[in-house]
Amino acid sequence: MRAFQSLFLLLWIPVWCSSLVYARGQVPLRGEAPYQPKRVAVIGAGSGGASTAHFLRKFTDHFEVPVNITVYERASYVGGRSTTVNVFDDPSIPVELGASIFVEVNRNLVKAAKEFGLLAETAFSTRPRESDDSLGVWDGQQFVYQQQDTYFWWNIAKLLWKYGLAPVRTQRLMKQTVDKFLRLYESPSFPFRSLSFAAEAAGLLDATASTGAEFLEQNGISADFGRDIIQASTRVNYGQNLPLIHGLETMVCMAAEGAISIQGGNWRIFDAMLGASAAEVKLNTSVVSIDRKDDGILSVSSTTGHSGTEQSEFDEVVIAGPLQEAGITVSPELDHAPDKIPYVELHVTLFASPHRISPQYFNSRASSVPETILTTLPQGLDLGSRRDGVGPTGFWSISTLQKVKAPSQSEEHYVYKIFSPQRLSAQFVADILGLDTEAESTNAAKNQTIGDLPRKDISWFHEKTWHSYPYLYPRVTFEEISLAPHIWYTSGIESFISTMETSSLMGKNVAALMVRSWLEKHHQDTENEWNSWDKAEL
Ligand SMILES: Cc1cc2nc3c(=O)[nH]c(=O)nc-3n(C[C@H](O)[C@H](O)[C@H](O)COP(=O)(O)OP(=O)(O)OC[C@H]3O[C@@H](n4cnc5c(N)ncnc54)[C@H](O)[C@@H]3O)c2cc1C
Ligand SMILES: *[C@@H]1O[C@H](CO)[C@@H](O)[C@H](O)[C@H]1NC(C)=O
Ligand SMILES: *[C@@H]1O[C@H](CO)[C@@H](O)[C@H](O)[C@H]1NC(C)=O
Ligand SMILES: *[C@@H]1O[C@H](CO)[C@@H](O)[C@H](O)[C@H]1NC(C)=O
Repeated sequence: MRAFQSLFLLLWIPVWCSSLVYARGQVPLRGEAPYQPKRVAVIGAGSGGASTAHFLRKFTDHFEVPVNITVYERASYVGGRSTTVNVFDDPSIPVELGASIFVEVNRNLVKAAKEFGLLAETAFSTRPRESDDSLGVWDGQQFVYQQQDTYFWWNIAKLLWKYGLAPVRTQRLMKQTVDKFLRLYESPSFPFRSLSFAAEAAGLLDATASTGAEFLEQNGISADFGRDIIQASTRVNYGQNLPLIHGLETMVCMAAEGAISIQGGNWRIFDAMLGASAAEVKLNTSVVSIDRKDDGILSVSSTTGHSGTEQSEFDEVVIAGPLQEAGITVSPELDHAPDKIPYVELHVTLFASPHRISPQYFNSRASSVPETILTTLPQGLDLGSRRDGVGPTGFWSISTLQKVKAPSQSEEHYVYKIFSPQRLSAQFVADILGLDTEAESTNAAKNQTIGDLPRKDISWFHEKTWHSYPYLYPRVTFEEISLAPHIWYTSGIESFISTMETSSLMGKNVAALMVRSWLEKHHQDTENEWNSWDKAEL
């Protein structure tokens, strides 16, 4: 408000003069009447869409630009790939079905959690802590590495003893990479019209141009450490081995220090963002088409299933989810249609059981196995850049999440989460729990899934298949952010880094580009004010 008076005077004359020229779709700024809100449609209520709405509201509040935000969401819930399900259908025991952790350097998420008073807890803090080792890396034959802490790789004498300087070099490389990445949040990089240019300016193309394996080799990190530790991380986080996934995402996997999650579910951040943005959120509503009219107005058709299609007009549309899965027809065609890229098909199996993981299955004579089991390929097996690269383990990870009281029983059950490239068979689940299955080796039994196991052994389960993230092949260019005039895209960032935070960063970036484009068209003064305003502080 401080600058209101002077800005009012400065703006009034040019606004008045230009009002004839910009009769339709003009930006009503401070001091101007009558207000005509900019109408913005956001398609998708995940991290990207919620962040777009959140920052759009912040930026426009600052300039007192009226804006009307409508968020379309196909699903019945907010959060997209960040969502929880309830163990035993009990709302007091939510567990993450999708994105489960973020880290301290994830500025947007950390700031939003603080702003909305959401409680961040250390990741894995609920695990039972009944095993000697908390984390182990399994190669299908043996545990190649075990340690007592989960996800705190560093400063561990054991690691240094086993792998020499590789852990130190990896940590240094990871820190350098994170520092470069953080440049994207600040001027002069932010906001960026082109992710390809911004990535180059930040010095990150070396990392995205090589596979993880090449990038580690270039930086003097031994293959043993890469295979046992780093690849265990790329597999649990992205379902990919080092000869496929690029060097930047490989480094992201090693930046697990200070891993946290929001109590009750990470989706609460996105829910709170949408609430604060005062957007109209239309759940159960799929956008089916966008018509680009001659006057630049965008007509969005949506459907809720039963009630036919509905049309609304917007000045700007943000597509905040992978376009290839959105089922949206755009006409006339987009100027820069994103390429279709392969996504990982990830099977997530959550279940509760009174049984612990069987040491026998893991060829172990110990009384327990680690509570988190990551996997890697055995030494000597190089599957190259194959997408079906899970190898002899058959699964990516098994995590013991917590112990819960089973309903109407005094017994405590363990809650497990398994990531795998294929749906789990009943046999596999029985085997890892050490259950006696009466040697039913008939084809029919082989075809059985977790739901076919007795209730006494599996007291609750939930299976979900995600298109979780892209196969992160090395590349040096990324999809456009502006797909056509007034049509914006957040998901191109997924082939750079695929996380909740990066989707949020892109949402903020698109909001900033949009507001700047409104200001630029009309007013030198606000443009200057915009440029000198430290948006990184938000
Ligand atoms: C199992 C799993 C584990 C993961 N682990 C992590 C992790 O630990 N940490 C991390 O940071 N990231 C993790 N990720 C990645 C993370 O979930 C994603 O990168 C991030 O949530 C993507 O957010 P987004 O908003 O870009 O996309 P989404 O969350 O996919 O949101 C897009 C939304 O758009 C909606 N939509 C699509 N088309 C339409 C349409 N036509 N009309 C209306 N709505 C539409 C969809 O329903 C969806 O809700 C994980 C992902 C999975 C699946
Ligand atoms: C915002 O747009 C929606 C949908 O077009 C409309 O129903 C609503 O009245 C608008 N709100 C304002 C404040 O203009
Ligand atoms: C969305 O659909 C689900 C069922 O498919 C229903 O339970 C829910 O109430 C609907 N939500 C809204 C906001 O319409
Ligand atoms: C296994 O299940 C699939 C899909 O449910 C089915 O098509 C197939 O015939 C089954 N095979 C056997 C051997 O039962």
